[in-house]
Amino acid sequence: MRYPFLLLLALLAACDREQAAAPASPGAPEIAAVIEAQVAPLPDTDWALHGNDYREQRFSPLAQINRDNVQELGLAWSFDMYTQRGVEATPLVVDGVMYVTGSWSMVYALDARNGELKWFFDPQVDRSFLAKGCCDAVNRGVAYTDGKVIVATYDGRLVALSAADGAVLWEVQTTDREQSYTITGAPRIAGDKVVIGNGGAELGVRGYVSAYDLASGAMVWRFYTVPGNPEDGFENAAMERAAKTWTGEWWQWGGGGTVWDAIVYNPELDLLYIGVGNGSPWNARLRSPGGGDNLYLASIVALRPDTGEYVWHYQTTPGETWDYTATQHIMLAELEIDGKPRKVLMQAPKNGFFYVLDRQSGELISAEQYGQVNWASHVDMATGRPVETPNARVFDGKNVSLPSNAGAHNWPPMAYNPDAGLVYIPVMVFPVAFLEPTEEKDSKPGQGYWNVGFDRMAGSPPKIPNLGEILDSQFLGQLVAWDPVKQEARWKGPVGRPVLGGVLSTAGGLVFSVARADQLAAFDAYTGEELWSSYTGNAAAAPISYAIDGEQYIAIAQGFGGGYAAEGGPVAHDWKIRNMSRVMAFKLGGKAELPPPRVDNREMPRPAPATADAATLERGESVYHRHCGYCHGDGLRTGGVTPDLRWSSGQTHEMWQDIVLGGVLRERGMVSFSAYLTPDDAEAIRQYVLAEANRLYLETHPEPVAGN
Ligand code: HEC
Repeated sequence: MRYPFLLLLALLAACDREQAAAPASPGAPEIAAVIEAQVAPLPDTDWALHGNDYREQRFSPLAQINRDNVQELGLAWSFDMYTQRGVEATPLVVDGVMYVTGSWSMVYALDARNGELKWFFDPQVDRSFLAKGCCDAVNRGVAYTDGKVIVATYDGRLVALSAADGAVLWEVQTTDREQSYTITGAPRIAGDKVVIGNGGAELGVRGYVSAYDLASGAMVWRFYTVPGNPEDGFENAAMERAAKTWTGEWWQWGGGGTVWDAIVYNPELDLLYIGVGNGSPWNARLRSPGGGDNLYLASIVALRPDTGEYVWHYQTTPGETWDYTATQHIMLAELEIDGKPRKVLMQAPKNGFFYVLDRQSGELISAEQYGQVNWASHVDMATGRPVETPNARVFDGKNVSLPSNAGAHNWPPMAYNPDAGLVYIPVMVFPVAFLEPTEEKDSKPGQGYWNVGFDRMAGSPPKIPNLGEILDSQFLGQLVAWDPVKQEARWKGPVGRPVLGGVLSTAGGLVFSVARADQLAAFDAYTGEELWSSYTGNAAAAPISYAIDGEQYIAIAQGFGGGYAAEGGPVAHDWKIRNMSRVMAFKLGGKAELPPPRVDNREMPRPAPATADAATLERGESVYHRHCGYCHGDGLRTGGVTPDLRWSSGQTHEMWQDIVLGGVLRERGMVSFSAYLTPDDAEAIRQYVLAEANRLYLETHPEPVAGN
């Protein structure tokens, strides 16, 4: 084990603070001088870029909070956001101000010393866009440069704000609002440009990234990730080459390949790396019936930041089919491999392999399984391609695929400690059984219907076991410390719910991440020993660290939601989520208290009896899972972000057709389904809801209520 010099000094500094009154021990004047230098207030240190620096290592050089004193960490301040749903943002801190996004792409500028609101920007996102995205109206943060704060909105806009007061400097629509494009990712600054991608591959779009001029907001270039219709001509040579790896009429379904998270700028090599998403429709057999790799799906692509010109690519999953996006966090580092220093790029995409690439040439250096994987045995180093197992593409509703479409690692960012030489990955085990694809069912995604290929009803009660059994049967999340040179795990953290949270690593020898369901925890970066934890509620975003006025802070934004709340349905529900959207900052000796938890005293209204026959109830259940389940929860169990329909009032039931077909709640995110459902369908769903509501009511109210 090797401790960096700075860390050693910090350890000494920590000891000194406690013994400040004691005279310096004689005979150690040099150490005393060093200590004196260290207890001098820390210089103010920002977290100005999404991943702290351009390499996106999420490593803070601050060591005031360290392994010896982390137990003294306490809440410095908290700020409650104005929404109660998913928050996935990495806050930025620049010159004492924290810029953080909440749900619906809202931006909060807070005094980073005390959490006081300086300004607030609501981009007024059209709530009906909720049905155009897969995974909740979340946002992963802003970009900052030169007095500008830039946010990308859920409805596809890029907005530049004045960092001083939140005034809009320019605004541009980056997507076609008629199609199912949404943005949840953080923009990245590349020189005098800002780069942004989008999401929507589950809902039939064609992916791309675009670069905009920072001064004016004018678009400078756009790079599509999958080819369009060859008859329309190719945008560039990269698209022409890519088209040779597709067959059939893929462009009709969009093709997918959305760049919804990782975009990394490397000024040193003048390259921009993008992580490309999954195919649309989900199964390659439908999308590209004659086979083919389907470039640049599930690839890391290097572009020229000035022009958007293609430089190289590495495809992690040829013929992508399982939603194995390569959009996950891309991290740059210098590693010593076979005795030589290498400039590398690292990624743990959904498919379960940890990749180390030469970031100049794109050459594959190594790839090993970091999670549970059964679709491929290994990556062939001669060809750079995964070797698929015989059952990899068996989709019969029984064959379990690992990882699932949720991935062995999803969007929560990793972190790296260059001294320990470890990458900390929030790893998931989350199995799924895909169904045989059919043209009718899978080609054209409908509203409220993800193009993901698995049977939502398989997750309905009573078919899914309870939490204990789920954990026993492998739905879990775990922080894994990964040695990227040896390609093996060094240590593993405690088992918690899937998804877990993003990670921060610090020069204090600490790793901060979510532990169990609702705690922010600090682990020893070298051994994995848990040294501190504090209740935060359900956090999943990545913590950051900054210093102001001589004090180091650890901050995290949190709010339960995202794809997990919806897709996780019963799994998420079993964690008894109490929803809050909040920012919290901790410091040594912090004594602030969280506001008291909101208590929900509502009583479940007694439901009217279901009057339909069994066949209608079954149809209602099926239509519900096709069109409603991804917001209102598998088996009607929501993750707490959208209403539990079993609790709907008699009045809501009276308005059912107006809500479901008439779209009267459109402004609140509940769009009309009249293009997909008949009044009979809507009534069948209502009957299914009533039947399930009665079941729940009897479970929770065993005695019949007199007079009702
Ligand atoms: C894209 C997400 C989404 C989908 C898909 C969706 N809903 Fe909703 N639904 C919402 C939201 C958000 C609300 C809450 C609106 C509000 O705040 O009043 C809601 C509210 C409702 C309500 C009112 C509940 C109450 O008690 O106030 C009903 C009824 C409803 N939805 C039925 C359906 C049905 C039936 C389907 C499928 C055909 C469906 N929803 C699909 C997002 C969705």
